[in-house]
Amino acid sequence: LLLGGAAAGAGAATLVGADALLRSSRPDAPAPADDPGLNGERTVAFHGPRQAGIETPPQAHAKFLAVDLADDTGAEKVRRLLRLLTDDAAKLTQGQAALADSEPELAFVPARLTVTFGFGPGLVERVAPDAVPSWLRPLPEFATDRLREEWSGGDLLLQICSDDPLTVSHAARMLSKDVRAFGGLRWAQDGFRRAHGSEAPGTTMRNLMGQVDGTVNLEPGSADFEELVWGRRDNPAWLRDGTGMVVRRIAMDLDTWDRLDRPGREEAVGRRLADGAPLTGEHEHDEPDFEALTPLGFPRIAEYAHIRRARSDDPAERVFRRGYNYDVPVAGDAGQDAGLLFVSYQADVERQFVPIQRRLDELDLLNEWISPIGSAVFAVPPGCAEGGFVGETLFE
Ligand code: HEM
Repeated sequence: LLLGGAAAGAGAATLVGADALLRSSRPDAPAPADDPGLNGERTVAFHGPRQAGIETPPQAHAKFLAVDLADDTGAEKVRRLLRLLTDDAAKLTQGQAALADSEPELAFVPARLTVTFGFGPGLVERVAPDAVPSWLRPLPEFATDRLREEWSGGDLLLQICSDDPLTVSHAARMLSKDVRAFGGLRWAQDGFRRAHGSEAPGTTMRNLMGQVDGTVNLEPGSADFEELVWGRRDNPAWLRDGTGMVVRRIAMDLDTWDRLDRPGREEAVGRRLADGAPLTGEHEHDEPDFEALTPLGFPRIAEYAHIRRARSDDPAERVFRRGYNYDVPVAGDAGQDAGLLFVSYQADVERQFVPIQRRLDELDLLNEWISPIGSAVFAVPPGCAEGGFVGETLFE
């Protein structure tokens, strides 16, 4: 509807070569049959049994908004808020202007925009106090935590992801406007990966410590993913086709990490920096050999290595990681404020995430350079059909 000939013609300008130049000056020239089109035009379906933004291949940019509901926002108001947000999210993700869009042109480039809703304990308690999942509460305290209120908690979370940062910003602004009459912003966190198109699709992301991060992960569409992300049967009925979400802001001390030599850095994780291969293997996806010894008889992958500590013998203790980097400008010489927005999805936070975090808390050489400074847990409700709204099952 909104992406007519002008947008398709502008697509030609992105092609390299004389032909592209020619076409860019003649916007109505037909695109060749193999023209993949503009990434900006790509959409991810909003409606469906499950929310988008989880199995969706990670977009380049993300904004996480946590909202505190006002004291007088009871169940009926929550329902109105969720309807408003759903209507606007449904439009924006399909490249259409929001209801009262003050800058509608900014909505016309969705670039795979997704908006994923998460509910904190405060929201669920207002609507269905008997249906709060047992794991929907702040995580237990960990010794390595340096948590700050300003990055923790929240009644409602909006995860806004797109390959275009302008799209993310506009969507966040429109959705924040919807929230105003019902509560206020508690925190906002921006994250990024490589720009869209910089690397082949499917390349595992790198974090700001330079590591390949995300190699061993649940595979969207797999039976394990179905079971461990969507499937936990003892969650309350309203959460069927939903899941649990952990958001942790983990600061990295990149200045002290700089001082460690390359072999030291690789030992901290148990994988090579060049390609993410385990220290006992050749390729990124080789299975690490945790029994292998050095000629001196030490474990090749150290006892304190992050991948040894993060892995459980119990296959039920796994999560789906979908994090983003963050890097906030700091004035003066205070150093860099950078790290990882660790985001994981799992059907049961208590049984899947907490045991992993506990082991890492007890021993993980990476702890020398990282500290969790924010933490929040949300229940991710199922998706909805056209005409419905995200969270409707909570009101049944
Ligand atoms: C693996 C980095 C925090 C759980 C890895 C890998 C890297 C890494 C480089 C190896 C590649 C891969 O398989 O993805 C980091 C950094 C962190 C961090 C820099 C903090 C800034 C966490 C946290 C958890 C976690 C908080 C969960 C509580 C895992 C798991 C694996 C992993 C489950 C896969 C282990 C396996 O091989 O079975 N991480 N990580 N990580 N990490 Fe982290």
